[in-house]
Amino acid sequence: MKKFFLISFLLFLAGCEQPAKPVPLPENNFLVIAHRGASAYAPEHTIGAYELAIQMRADYLELDLQQTKDGKLVVMHNRFIVNQQKEIAVADLTYEELKTLHEEGTGQRQTVLESAEKTNEGLISLEEVLERFGADVNYYIELKTPASYPGMEEDLIAELRDFGLLDGNQNPPRIILQSFDRKSLQRIHKLEPDIPLIQLYSFDKAPSFKESDFQKLNKYASGIGINKDVVSKELINQFHRHGLDIHPYTVNEEEVMRRLYEWGADGIFTDHPDIGVEVKREER
Ligand code: G3P
Ligand code: CA
Repeated sequence: MKKFFLISFLLFLAGCEQPAKPVPLPENNFLVIAHRGASAYAPEHTIGAYELAIQMRADYLELDLQQTKDGKLVVMHNRFIVNQQKEIAVADLTYEELKTLHEEGTGQRQTVLESAEKTNEGLISLEEVLERFGADVNYYIELKTPASYPGMEEDLIAELRDFGLLDGNQNPPRIILQSFDRKSLQRIHKLEPDIPLIQLYSFDKAPSFKESDFQKLNKYASGIGINKDVVSKELINQFHRHGLDIHPYTVNEEEVMRRLYEWGADGIFTDHPDIGVEVKREER
């Protein structure tokens, strides 16, 4: 009988196994994250905008993801597309339908840089981006409104795995995932604990984080992304004391980049990766 209880207790303990700790991001870095590509110079979320970001030596290509009715992961910021003054959910359209509507809406987009003249593409899928750039660059991918797309986390992981992007330990990591949706990130952490995760926040005024917030974050996140206007040196220090990185968004002014660098921010999302890279080079 005693043996039976001992075995049951051991089985119970095994079932209570703690999830792995989040992987730390490389120390003393200032990641230049090209927000939707080099989107100050070419239409956002296009191959051209990502090519420019690579030429500008950004550390990461940032992209937002939605998912179509037929399961395609598409690189797009909004959950809806506007057509004839009506909003249609991406989740209600097939990839082909969405692509057609997207082209109708973006056909006239102009690029700012002459060198990026041919960047006027329509909608792109994650697959197209990964096929184009492969494992030569780093990706910082946002799951947008994942609650609207059941299974999005599994689909994304499978696609990254197919492209060999989850193999081995790269420094800095090849893939960082981000979301405003805590549950989605916690789900990913259970599925793939080796992927660094960034919890996104947006605040109207300076936030105050409690010990309990840090305890929660420390279970699944490597850091946070937060709107730049509420970031202070104290906030950065507070996150560092809790072992969490902090990446303000969206930072386009050189002066603000320099200030965040001096305060110890671990990276910035920027539409101007060229300026970010230059600031990083000069400040080092
Ligand atoms: O992902 C960080 C930042 O990009 C979040 O805002 O609206 O530009 O995706 P958004
Ligand atoms: Ca984003």
